[in-house]
Amino acid sequence: MSDTTRFTPLLAIETSCDDTACAVLDHNGAILGESVLSQESHAALGGVVPEIAARAHLEALPNLVDLTLQRAGLTLSDIALFAATTGPGLIGGLIVGSSYAKGLAMACQKPFMGINHIEGHILTPRLPSAVADGEAPLNFPYLALLVSGGHCQCITVEDTGRYQRLGGTIDDSAGEAFDKVAKMLGLGWPGGPALEALALKGDPKAYTLPRPLKGRPGCDFSFSGLKTAVARLIEPYGKAALPHQVAADLAASFQQAVADVMADRVVHALAMSPHVTSLVVAGGVAANKTLRHRLEQIAEQHNISFLAPPIRLCTDNAVMIGWAALERLQQGEEPDDIHLAPRPRWPLSERTPYTALKTTPTETPA
Ligand code: KG4
Ligand code: ZN
Repeated sequence: MSDTTRFTPLLAIETSCDDTACAVLDHNGAILGESVLSQESHAALGGVVPEIAARAHLEALPNLVDLTLQRAGLTLSDIALFAATTGPGLIGGLIVGSSYAKGLAMACQKPFMGINHIEGHILTPRLPSAVADGEAPLNFPYLALLVSGGHCQCITVEDTGRYQRLGGTIDDSAGEAFDKVAKMLGLGWPGGPALEALALKGDPKAYTLPRPLKGRPGCDFSFSGLKTAVARLIEPYGKAALPHQVAADLAASFQQAVADVMADRVVHALAMSPHVTSLVVAGGVAANKTLRHRLEQIAEQHNISFLAPPIRLCTDNAVMIGWAALERLQQGEEPDDIHLAPRPRWPLSERTPYTALKTTPTETPA
């Protein structure tokens, strides 16, 4: 393991979607300072508007970085490396966050590192503060179920930088499915937490909903059929508000169907990766207690450990970006070229992100 002290404390920035986040970590991964600002302007519009998100990141970053440094009791000159999410995500936000980090790196004459957002999510359960007191640290290899607003996939994490994607969604992400069904039920955005709260008052057996792809080989996911089935059940009510109990029963039945499908897909993923010793869940949907409980049961049945980081580390944050940078540095990797370009799509299998063309001034003929 490489000595990372020359690159720490490091400051990380996350701006790939609608959360502006900053964190400062030391060489052991201890969180010295942390801030997350969730953009609220999207709620009224029922979803993230990329252009609005990018502008809001730009407005928020200067104060957020200052606040995070203050919380860490440090100043910019103490920072030894600047990291930022460079993909995958909304390109406007990625450009804003990575340019800001690069600007700081250049001004402070310190290195820069571009981090894959998914890598951040799936490595975070290894962060020392993600492990509860008395529990063993998470070792490789493990199976990660990443379920967020933008992603839904099963990945075998063999080691830092060695990932195998076993399957993923063929339509909506898990979070999108929760958000869309919540909208149909007249709940606010993001809909996942509101739907889970409503489901507590409903009967999960009230409606028989489909379990898309359940029992099929592999571990791909599909949620559009489930979403359409809920829409059909709501149709007869027209524009009238759904009776409260109907909405609660639909929420509970939908949540149960999602948990059933995910449980089935994870069991398939474990059969495809029988050497893993742990199951971890990451991403915003990991906050869902019904899902967590099902995954915990599966892990127990397979005699492997189960780890779900605290919710604030499951949803988008900058600690995970700083931690992924640290894991890569610990492996002996060097920081990136300052010209590294952000990528809206960046498969985990592509280890080295491409570098933007360096433009050289061309001579204009006299
Ligand atoms: O990871 P995240 O914060 O951001 C993305 O990268 O997308 O995930 C946000 C998603 C939203 O779709 C939200 O509705 C969902 O996570 N979510 C939940 C719950 N809490 C958040 N879904 C189901 N149950 C929850 N308790
Ligand atoms: Zn995310």
